[in-house]
Amino acid sequence: MAADLDRAKEAAAQRAVGLVRPGMHLALGTGSTADHVLRAVAARFPGRVIDCVASSRATEELARSLGLTVRPLRDDDRFDLMIDGADEVAPTLDLTKGAGGALLREKLLAGLARERVIVVDPTKVVERLGSRMPVPVEVVPFARGVLAHRFESDGYRVARRLAPDGAPFVTDNGNEILDLRPPRPLDDPAAVAAALAAPTGVVATGLFVGLADRVFVGHPDGSVDERRRSAGAAH
Ligand code: A5P
Repeated sequence: MAADLDRAKEAAAQRAVGLVRPGMHLALGTGSTADHVLRAVAARFPGRVIDCVASSRATEELARSLGLTVRPLRDDDRFDLMIDGADEVAPTLDLTKGAGGALLREKLLAGLARERVIVVDPTKVVERLGSRMPVPVEVVPFARGVLAHRFESDGYRVARRLAPDGAPFVTDNGNEILDLRPPRPLDDPAAVAAALAAPTGVVATGLFVGLADRVFVGHPDGSVDERRRSAGAAH
C-alpha cells in the first residue's frame, strides 16, 4: 500500500515537473510528494538552470543535496510556478495543508506564484475539507493555551502537535501548531479560514482557499488525472 501510494505521488510529481522550463523561478513545496518533485527537477535539469526558493528547511536541504540551487526569498519575489503537495483537495481545489508543518511558508510562496500546481495521491481527494485531516493552525507559543481554549469553546477538538520524540513540534518559524478537528466537515472553507485566522496569536491556517490552479492526482499504475480550478473562481 505504501509503495502504491509512493508510485502515485511520483506519477503526479513527474507530470507537474513537465511544466518546468529552464530559467523559471520555481517555489518548492514540502512533504513526501514534493520530495518527488525535487528529485524529478534535479534529474531533468542537472545544470542548475532553475532558480528555486524552498518552503521549508527540509526541502532546502534535500534540494541542495540533489544539486539544485536554492536561494533566500527576495523582497520583490514572484514565481513562475509553485509545485506542492496537500493533505486534502476539495472539488473547488481548496486545500488543507500543513501536516508537515510548513503551512506558513507554503502559503506565503503560493501567494507569490503565478501558477500553483498541487500534486497528490488519490487518498487526498475529498468531498469536503476537514473530513480526512484536522486543520492545522500555526500559533505563537505564548498564545497557544489561550487559543486552544478558544477553539475548543468554538466546538473543535484541539490537539497540540508533538514531534516524534514527544516534545512540542516547533515550526521553521519558531511557532507551534494546533491541529483542529471540526465538529463536521467544512461547508464554507473560506469563512472558516477567516474565523480561524482572526484571533491574535494565530500566524497561519492550513486552509488554502483559492491558492491552487491545477491539481494532478497520480495513481499507482502511473496514470494522472488533472483538475483545474473553474474559470469563475476568484484568484
Ligand atoms: C507540509 O506542511 C504540507 O502542507 C504538505 O504539503 C502536505 O502535508 C503533503 O505532504 P505529503 O506529500 O507527504 O502527503
